[in-house]
Amino acid sequence: MTPVHPLGYRVNEMPKKKQAPAAKPSSEGTKPVGRETARAPKKPGHVVAAAAKPSAPSAKAPSAAKAAPPAKAPPEEPAEAVELREPARPARRATAETMATRQRDISVSEFFTKNRHLLGFDNPAKSLLTTVKEAVDNSLDACEEAGILPDLRVEIHEVQAPGSKGEKGEKTNPNAPIRYRVSVEDNGPGIVKPQIPKIFAKLLYGSKFHRLKQSRGQQGIGISAAGLYGQLTTGKPVTIVSKTGKGRPAFRIELRIDTKRNQPDVVSDETVEWDKDHGTKVEIELVALYRGGRTSVDAYLEQTAVANPHLALHYVSPKGETMDFPRVSDALPREAQEIKPHPHGVELGMLLSMLRDSPGKKVKQVLMDDFSRVTSSVADTICAMAKVSAKAFAASVDHEGAERLHKALGEVKLMAPSASSVVPIGEELLVEGLKRRFKNAFYVSTTRPPSVYRGNPFVVEVGLAYGGDLPLEEPAEIMRFANRVPLQYQPKACAISESIYDTNWKAYGLTQPRGSLPVGPLAIVVHLASVWVPFTSEAKEAVAHYDELMREMKLAVQECGRKLGAHLRAAERAASEHKRLGLFQRYIPEVSAALGSILGSPADKIEQAFTNALPNFVKLAELEDKGNGGGEGGEGGGAGGAPSDPPPPPSSMASMDSQPPPPPAGGGKGKKKRAEQLNLI
Ligand SMILES: Nc1ncnc2c1ncn2[C@@H]1O[C@H](COP(=O)(O)OP(=O)(O)O)[C@@H](O)[C@H]1O
Ligand SMILES: [Mg+2]
Repeated sequence: MTPVHPLGYRVNEMPKKKQAPAAKPSSEGTKPVGRETARAPKKPGHVVAAAAKPSAPSAKAPSAAKAAPPAKAPPEEPAEAVELREPARPARRATAETMATRQRDISVSEFFTKNRHLLGFDNPAKSLLTTVKEAVDNSLDACEEAGILPDLRVEIHEVQAPGSKGEKGEKTNPNAPIRYRVSVEDNGPGIVKPQIPKIFAKLLYGSKFHRLKQSRGQQGIGISAAGLYGQLTTGKPVTIVSKTGKGRPAFRIELRIDTKRNQPDVVSDETVEWDKDHGTKVEIELVALYRGGRTSVDAYLEQTAVANPHLALHYVSPKGETMDFPRVSDALPREAQEIKPHPHGVELGMLLSMLRDSPGKKVKQVLMDDFSRVTSSVADTICAMAKVSAKAFAASVDHEGAERLHKALGEVKLMAPSASSVVPIGEELLVEGLKRRFKNAFYVSTTRPPSVYRGNPFVVEVGLAYGGDLPLEEPAEIMRFANRVPLQYQPKACAISESIYDTNWKAYGLTQPRGSLPVGPLAIVVHLASVWVPFTSEAKEAVAHYDELMREMKLAVQECGRKLGAHLRAAERAASEHKRLGLFQRYIPEVSAALGSILGSPADKIEQAFTNALPNFVKLAELEDKGNGGGEGGEGGGAGGAPSDPPPPPSSMASMDSQPPPPPAGGGKGKKKRAEQLNLI
């Protein structure tokens, strides 16, 4: 008997070889059904059902319909049945055995060669930024870890202009992609020679991944990925010069990455003279694009200077322009303490490997040694809650026991992790940083107390610059930072931006179109410092939306907004008082002269009496407030862009300065005094 297919037709009627290609696309849903079925007219019924579909767009459909008139079609067979039948038994393409011959390890370098966009190398402009960023971030991390005030030199030179002469004098292709040579030099601790190849030519190799300590890098993939990109696009090796101390030799090493093995190949290795006590210089040649704007290298360096007041930076752009940022603070950031994971943030898998990796240790000991804030009594409580013996060997705890321990770790009452592991910029230095970039503005800043997300401590801080040279009519300039590193891409996907958009800036005296950024001469800095920054991807472009982070960010933005609002209100009051003062000063001489002639007294005496009484009519305190920039925590030359910016004080004010301090203005007391003084006249 002919076997019957579960879908209802006999197996020997199934489309054979010829129909197979038609079956594939229709099964994938990529081609119109009519066209495919029209090409497979073996079973007339199928063809008719498909051709009868009014939407069948194929030119072949009518002829197919002709070949198989509708009258012959089995009425109970809808068009869909054809689709179901066609892919019924695709030709066997591979077996488990043939597939097994192709299955092998994928080296991480091979993976990122294909997926370099994941690391920020998805277009030439971004690749230039990422390369500079990885090298600069490493230099800053290394200097801070070694307790050295960083002195960096960043240079980018174009090495192959389109249409220019090649290396041997030959004319190059005018459409050839532009190559740049990026060079980043630091005065850090240097790198010991045997480590250099692995650091720069092996992906996933670094000193920061396995520890919980605040730093710019964390994955051990940054600089080697930049070298890999350079090698892929230009074929040139990465060059490193490094020296670890006075009197020690400096090494110059050229490296390539063997992508198949994810291992370094040393191209050349020599000892060189370097007039520097210690430091590292990295040079990478790459295909790239240099351009300006928010996501440019220049913007990155400018913003890095804002968040790192202790950095001295010299930059030579591909156009030959230089940018110098002299150091504005000699205070190195406090050293971040390394911490252990907090029990409230631990995941089950992590707990399981902690237990398994502690042979010979008791459960209680593992809890106390491997977690922060777990004292002896807390460990006992956790074990009791989990019904796991504190004295049991950690490696012998079964899966259910580990699950109960995990639950107890999440529920036990504990102190928050130590905040000493997080190093914010600080309110004062954030203002110093802002001053580096925005001159003559009004500045405010706020550093929130430490908080915790998923067991990781973090601190949010916000700084604002208002007025000065900032444009009056444009949306506020936003600078996002994570562990002092500027984030320039993906603003819409970032929790930091959301905290700014979500704030009602109108309440602080600014205009804000619905759902947009505030408009005005304003720059906003938000910095998130944490032992582990939750980025949305490996390219470290945007911060994930954890509730705890969002809450702290909003609070910090609001706190700064309130300070700015208070300043703007004071500035407005001062402006109107200034106007009043101008009016009085204009009419006092005239009125004094008229009164003098009526009363027969000398006009200058009357004028003096009026001038003395002025503090009772004009709130001079507010004028002074305005002059000092006002606002808590803020300083600077006043709100340059504040509405109705008053003119400079008239020269007659100088005489008032020598007067005794004016009595407090306003109120009943002021009125009484005013009356007394007028009586005098
Ligand atoms: N300029 C430098 N000076 C000293 N050490 C460096 C320097 N650049 C990189 N390193 C070391 O190389 C490691 C790997 O760097 P990288 O690949 O960028 O990964 P990550 O910064 O995420 O650890 C760093 O962890 C650091 O120990
Ligand atoms: Mg790095």
